[in-house]
Amino acid sequence: MKRRNFTQAFALGAGAAALHQGNGATAAEEGKPRKVPAIKPKELEKLVTVEDFVPIAKKNLPKATFDYITTGSEAEVTLNENRRAFEKIQFMPPILHGISQANLGTTVLKQPISVPVILAPVAGQQMFHTDGGRAAARAAGAMGTIYGVSSSVGNTPEEIAQAAKGPLWFQIYMPKERTVARQLIKRVEKSGYKAIILTVDLGERKDQDLRNGFALPKDMLYDHLKGVGFDVRKSMSYDELSKFNAQAWDLWLSWDVIKWVRSVTNLPIILKGVLAANDAKKAVSLGVDAIVVSNHGGRRLDGVPASIAMLDNVVKAVGQKAEVYLDSGVRRGSDVFKALARGAKAVLVGRAYAWALAAGGEPAVKRAIQILREQLELTMVSSGCSNVSQITPELLLN
Ligand SMILES: Cc1cc2nc3c(=O)[nH]c(=O)nc-3n(C[C@H](O)[C@H](O)[C@H](O)COP(=O)(O)O)c2cc1C
Repeated sequence: MKRRNFTQAFALGAGAAALHQGNGATAAEEGKPRKVPAIKPKELEKLVTVEDFVPIAKKNLPKATFDYITTGSEAEVTLNENRRAFEKIQFMPPILHGISQANLGTTVLKQPISVPVILAPVAGQQMFHTDGGRAAARAAGAMGTIYGVSSSVGNTPEEIAQAAKGPLWFQIYMPKERTVARQLIKRVEKSGYKAIILTVDLGERKDQDLRNGFALPKDMLYDHLKGVGFDVRKSMSYDELSKFNAQAWDLWLSWDVIKWVRSVTNLPIILKGVLAANDAKKAVSLGVDAIVVSNHGGRRLDGVPASIAMLDNVVKAVGQKAEVYLDSGVRRGSDVFKALARGAKAVLVGRAYAWALAAGGEPAVKRAIQILREQLELTMVSSGCSNVSQITPELLLN
């Protein structure tokens, strides 16, 4: 693949590419943060699964933005496999265990959280809702969990930290200019973030985004690049910004990047995008503190296996040397249980809260987390678990 094509493909994933969303809206409208009608609390209570937010998000968003959230890469084999693999796992609950309630609290990297569900880094959140990442940050804090902030979220790390009520992690796509990367990490540290998520599955080709001509509007592209710390000016044309963006990111990362991040910060490093046990082992030997077993929700190389199918191997390879989390395909509390039973300390969710954000901002994201909580609690009680440490592999059939 020519370097330029690969760069363009990545840029979508990094939430920063061309002008038009192909939905008939004018460029000026597209450039503004998305105004979403509020949902009444009574309406929110009627939503019983995170997928119930989907039709509302679809109604609120331009088609191209909705598809950007929802679709997977190429033929969506991995996107679908993520769900299939969860559905194939069956429970084997004990009977007559006498458990009637469960404590869902746990710790990740020594941070107590009240539910083992963390908000995954998701780019471009102002396209989904005016408050963008600030709404997600407030919702996560209110629900006692962590928000993993994407470096492409569209708000600066400082803005999010100001809005947040709870702990934050910062996910970084690596600027080629390491001085920019270093300064960004220093700002993140200063703003009180608790860990750096280094995402290493790069390069995406989402057929539906290409058909839709989906792209980040000019103002958002400018804000994004400026917010990361690049030397861009408001007077630059869209073409100039696009060209700048296309060469700004380091898409050719090697293992050295882990050493580099380690040399810059003492914050814990979470490596996101690992599927192979050997890679997990190597990452841990290089000083990574946690691993996210992830295929980016089926948004990267299509045809890789479901994350949940790879979890066992990674957990065995890593042992007690690092924490292991999982994402990709989590839609229900029962999926969270399955991931924990296979050794994950917690899960991350992406679309589950991105749809909610588009459906109704902060209260809707809270409701989405609440739904996952309730479903997990039911699964735990039904399986005789009064706390998360009792969620063990024997409670699954396969
Ligand atoms: C709209 C969207 C944007 C995303 N942007 C990022 C990002 O900027 N950085 C990142 O590491 N992962 C990103 N991801 C991947 C998520 O962090 C996570 O791995 C994935 O959503 C998990 O799968 P799920 O959506 O099935 O929960 C994005 C996912 C979505 C849906």
